[in-house]
Amino acid sequence: MNKLEADLLRGLWYVACPGSEVKPGKMLGKTLLGEPVLIGRAASGKVFALRDICPHRGIPLRHGWFDGETVQCCYHGWKFDTDGTCVDIPSTHATQTIDYTKISCGAYSAREQNGLIWIYFPENGERPEDGRQPEPPMMPDIDPQTGPRLKIMLPFVCSVDHAALGLMDPTHAAFVHTSWWFKKNAKVLRSKEKHFAPSGLGWAMVRHKLPPQNIAYRVLGDDVTTEISYALPGLRIEHIKGSKHTVVGLTTITPIDPSHTEVRQMFWASMGWVAPLAPLARHLMKVFLDQDRRVVIQQREGLEHNPKLMLINDADTQGRWWMQLKDEWQRSGEEKRPFVNPVKERVLRWMS
Ligand code: FES
Ligand SMILES: [Fe+2]
Repeated sequence: MNKLEADLLRGLWYVACPGSEVKPGKMLGKTLLGEPVLIGRAASGKVFALRDICPHRGIPLRHGWFDGETVQCCYHGWKFDTDGTCVDIPSTHATQTIDYTKISCGAYSAREQNGLIWIYFPENGERPEDGRQPEPPMMPDIDPQTGPRLKIMLPFVCSVDHAALGLMDPTHAAFVHTSWWFKKNAKVLRSKEKHFAPSGLGWAMVRHKLPPQNIAYRVLGDDVTTEISYALPGLRIEHIKGSKHTVVGLTTITPIDPSHTEVRQMFWASMGWVAPLAPLARHLMKVFLDQDRRVVIQQREGLEHNPKLMLINDADTQGRWWMQLKDEWQRSGEEKRPFVNPVKERVLRWMS
């Protein structure tokens, strides 16, 4: 984690973008995990993802055309279906036969769930159903067809490791998130004590009650509780539940390459009043996330000199868990044995 670059985990589903960014018959070229990926949506509505390199002469397919069924390369017009198989080479003469089915640009498994497009990056060319994470995670209590009410994305000039350490860092808020609307007297630190337990591919701050006096939570009904979980490859899910309504917040960190990261923040809500407040909420989310974005740019000035860094108890214990989880995921994959969650249940205490 000292480095400017992070090891990128494979054999996992990553959030590529919201489904609303790819309309039927359209395609979107992105770099994810350092690989060129072409995400598209067929006229039928189904999403797909191809390796964005034409196998003929290497030009990215994103420069070509998509008619809702086949992607055509802009250089010599080869056509590929949404599985990546070649279906036409216009230069083929009537006297020639070419088995197009033997030619492919390569494809990724893609799924649309909770309004997000997830892409699987295999470890050894396996399909997700044969891998260690067969399906992308579902948002709790949210219909799989329902997209987020609010969503923002900011590109961070930092590795996924520093984006993750910032995301799970409970003690920077008083110094970084200093907007007046966020926390009154943020600099007056208070004692915090939270209970954590291993969960899936990560850990959770176990479900606890939220202060009933807080007006923002009262709309959810009585007995409002929350659980915050963190999981590989970079997901933070906050599940707030009251007697009447549920709100789910998701933050994702997806590596563009080893030193650049897309950070997204999204919210789903079971109540209908969110729409009129959306522009204000989106603005506040952007201000908040931009504070995190700016601090990692400043941090980079120091990291360029490859300093030795520290993770301290208990404030950075979650950061330590993140590094241990990554390490265990990579090692168990190499040794072809089941992943064993290294997090142990415990209470963490800090001032924030
Ligand atoms: S480079 Fe794509 S068709 Fe020739
Ligand atoms: Fe932050």
